[in-house]
Amino acid sequence: MSARPKAEAPAAKGKPVTLSALAQKKALGEPIAMITAYDFPSAQVAEEAGVDVVLVGDSGAMTVLGYPSTVPVTTDEMLMLAAAVRRGLRTPMLVGDLPFGSYEVSDEQAVATAQRFVKEAGCDAVKLERGGSSVRRAKAIIEAGIPVMGHVGLTPQTATALGGYRSQGRTAERALEVAEDALALQEAGCFSIVFEAIPSDLTAELMPRLEIPVIGIGAGPATDGQVLVFHDLLGIYDGHAARFVKRYGDVRKAMVDGVAAYAADVRERRYPEAEHGYTMAPDERERLRELLAQRV
Ligand code: KIV
Repeated sequence: MSARPKAEAPAAKGKPVTLSALAQKKALGEPIAMITAYDFPSAQVAEEAGVDVVLVGDSGAMTVLGYPSTVPVTTDEMLMLAAAVRRGLRTPMLVGDLPFGSYEVSDEQAVATAQRFVKEAGCDAVKLERGGSSVRRAKAIIEAGIPVMGHVGLTPQTATALGGYRSQGRTAERALEVAEDALALQEAGCFSIVFEAIPSDLTAELMPRLEIPVIGIGAGPATDGQVLVFHDLLGIYDGHAARFVKRYGDVRKAMVDGVAAYAADVRERRYPEAEHGYTMAPDERERLRELLAQRV
């Protein structure tokens, strides 16, 4: 490594983003920018870019841990990612994603897991998926003093039960279920909610009924903000990209090109050059020769 990571993120652009700052943004009609991050450098990028909210998403199971879905990632793995993000972040609100199997069993399990995200990883809030029994879990966590973000529509942790990774709420009946889930999470006290992969028309119908900030991913332009996965928006992840992904970079290609150029330089002996090495004063070298000569 050529440079040591700094102990803190570069100069903060402003004060830490609070729940009331997000609510105020909604009231003023100022869009909220949210992205995911999974490690120290991606957190520093988010900090410097000036986003409002950073989610340590369980999408990290796929983007950085190489699992085929979000389902296998454990709480310990998520906590390691979240703690690294915390070390690189100062201003945006930090939300930790509760992984599949870490909150569904009971309110006690949900509160205990959420507390680990706050105590061990320094998260400001947690996110959980679905309505139904997750509404009770969200309420329990909120009553324990931890802010909760909901997530409805396409909920990847239970994608199998939803018929796969497909948009949700395209029939009136299913759209009503999504609406009921969103309203129940709001009533439970969630400070914000993610709408994933639902028709823009459904979002437009729901927005007048939601007082909390709604963050969309594949939910159209009417939400209070947008979220994208860091690796998707920068073109780092090589897997299938959903329709809602817009690429703002081709970072994977830049990384592959850089590593390939390095490997070619090593093989052709073009690297290292004199400027990459250290020198010894001529008299020290001469003395070394003498010392080595005495040794043999
Ligand atoms: O895990 C994740 O990255 C998410 C976002 C897509 C909202 O849940």
